[in-house]
Amino acid sequence: MNFKGRDVVSIKDFSKKEITYILDYTKRIYPYAIGKKHTDLLKRKILSLLFFEPSTRTRLSFESAMNRLGGSSIGFADPSATSQKKGESLSDTIRMADAYSDIIVVRHPQEGAARLAAEFADSPVINGGDGAGRHPTQCLLDLFTIQTEKKQIEGNNIVLLGDLKYGRTVHSLAYALALFGAELSFVSPSNLKMPDEVISECKELGVNPTSTSNLEKAIKDADVLYVTRIQKERFPDPAEYNRVIGSYKIDNALLKTAQKKIIIMHPLPRVTEIDPEVDNTLHAVYFKQAFNGVPVRMALLSLVIGGNQL
Ligand code: CP
Repeated sequence: MNFKGRDVVSIKDFSKKEITYILDYTKRIYPYAIGKKHTDLLKRKILSLLFFEPSTRTRLSFESAMNRLGGSSIGFADPSATSQKKGESLSDTIRMADAYSDIIVVRHPQEGAARLAAEFADSPVINGGDGAGRHPTQCLLDLFTIQTEKKQIEGNNIVLLGDLKYGRTVHSLAYALALFGAELSFVSPSNLKMPDEVISECKELGVNPTSTSNLEKAIKDADVLYVTRIQKERFPDPAEYNRVIGSYKIDNALLKTAQKKIIIMHPLPRVTEIDPEVDNTLHAVYFKQAFNGVPVRMALLSLVIGGNQL
């Protein structure tokens, strides 16, 4: 299996066999991610982190992953402090990062920005989230979390809840879960439904997701509840956002109606959609899930930059 030099723009760029390989390799790399083992596998390699949108987890976990592999990183988290402010184009910024580093992670508010970046860079480009488009590395860490917590992905009843229209993490995840044979339910306010394109992708893979706005009903049979934030920043009309904010909240009372072993996931950040009282229950795996970004991104960086393995 050869990943060296490949771009990671969409999870659809990878076959099921390749995703399984990355998840298995992530298991092997885990002791290095928690600091139990040490390596210089990517010594003298440089990662560019180009973040045109805010991020806590994606940016910091990539930086942590690169450090754990013995490499280093450069980049920015605030485009207003770069020459973008003087009118520089995305393609020229990408050309510079390409010259200064061995691999580029880009987050951008526009869908398709990572694909464009990949066309201008010789180095591999990883999509760290493009607008309401895709977020493939989040998808990999979500799959890794489900596999770790539930032993396997196939056959689980998985509810994706929230802003399924603008939430890029669920677009990548729905496709991948269908690829792995999970049962899917989409629960959202009626104006934030999963795009038809994603539903068609699932159907092409032989999975027919149910769509509803009735969380109480959907949660009863769920093995995994994947909660998302309403993506305030993507609403063209603030009044529309105000109409849907607070439409659902996960709390301990609701979880009493769910299966005992249900796990609650969330890509984070959360706002009001999960009550903090859930954090201390065995259901809550969202902080573990966020940590899993480190081993998953270590696995990807080492495969894509070096083709090397621990
Ligand atoms: N899940 C996720 O992408 O988080 P950040 O926006 O903090 O990177």
